Amino acid sequence: MAQFQATASAPVNIACIKYWGKRDTKLILPTNSSLSVTLDQDHLRSTTTSRADPSFEKDRLWLNGKEEDIKDGGRMATCIAEMKRLRKQEVEDKQPNEPQVVSLFFVTYLTLKLTSCPKLSSYHVHIASYNNFPTAAGLASSASGFAALVSSLAQLYALPVSPSTLSLIARQGSGSACRSLYGGFVAWEQGTRPDGQDSLAVQIAPQSHWPDMHALICVVSDDKKGTSSTSGMQRTVETSALLQHRIAHVVPQRMAAISAAIKSRDFDAFAKVTMADSNQFHAVALDTEPPIFYMNDVSRAIIALIVEYNRVSMEKGLGRRAAYTYDAGPNAVIYTLKENVKEIVELVVKYFPQRDGFKDVFGLFGEAGVQGKVVE
Ligand code: DP6
Repeated sequence: MAQFQATASAPVNIACIKYWGKRDTKLILPTNSSLSVTLDQDHLRSTTTSRADPSFEKDRLWLNGKEEDIKDGGRMATCIAEMKRLRKQEVEDKQPNEPQVVSLFFVTYLTLKLTSCPKLSSYHVHIASYNNFPTAAGLASSASGFAALVSSLAQLYALPVSPSTLSLIARQGSGSACRSLYGGFVAWEQGTRPDGQDSLAVQIAPQSHWPDMHALICVVSDDKKGTSSTSGMQRTVETSALLQHRIAHVVPQRMAAISAAIKSRDFDAFAKVTMADSNQFHAVALDTEPPIFYMNDVSRAIIALIVEYNRVSMEKGLGRRAAYTYDAGPNAVIYTLKENVKEIVELVVKYFPQRDGFKDVFGLFGEAGVQGKVVE
């Protein structure tokens, strides 16, 4: 019996302009655009294997070795169904002799076989996914997880589609996942269409554009977080007046400013916008009823350290040389250029010597989502 399998891995991304709020909770359409940096695949990633087989009786999923339910109509079921639909539409519904333009060049031989399997989309799939970092600790495991899922299914199904098209599907698994389909600097354009077809990820610049950019991850706590992003952001949409101001009057300008800073490799401007947006995201969390606190005392002490570091740096005429940002948890991500990494690591270790969970992530990832292989 034929049996098809593909493996792909995708890295975490960390937003500089935060996504926080949905205008459509089913399609996962955001209330504002966002922008992130995709991290190095070697350090924080999800790796997912998908297998299709005519003998499988239902779709099944294992996360870090433990079987999880695929809820009918849930996010996982939606992503799998959308990928099967894309396979049918892009490959199986076409004339058998029509040549396929297949972008996954490294699997050309197997791809030809896969494209010639007319019923692949009707087989059930078994999916196994692993993270090499703590799940749901504010380290964006859902982002890399859904990006790896759609990437592995895209390879399994030999889909001749762009990462932006795949980002439309990853988005329906977890909003921030759409940005992990690309490496480097990535925007998620909120779009205006009610069907969400223009709410997708685009690459602002590849990693090679600014290879000196580094991200240092300070793991303050790897406990599971208190309020999930999904429920927290909906409460903010329902109760925060500050969020409405942010959506209308703050984010559009910041998206333009940070894109310009990235294009001109202006670290001072990049840092200013990144820190301001982290601050405002945590301000809207606080402006939620009841209020949400993601940072703790250690998070705030790291902010104070970076503020002081930048004050001294600006006094010397060097501009800001570090930028902190926090997602829905207490862990800090510090962006800085390569030349400052050693100094900042030494500073953090000096002031937080008891913390051994400090991890530096060198470089950014280049080709998210298309590292993998297909076997038959
Ligand atoms: C604070 O993408 O996890 O990390 O779409 O409900 O799955 P859902 O939310 P999720 O939210 C991420 C929020 C954030 C900011 C960001 O990554 O832009």
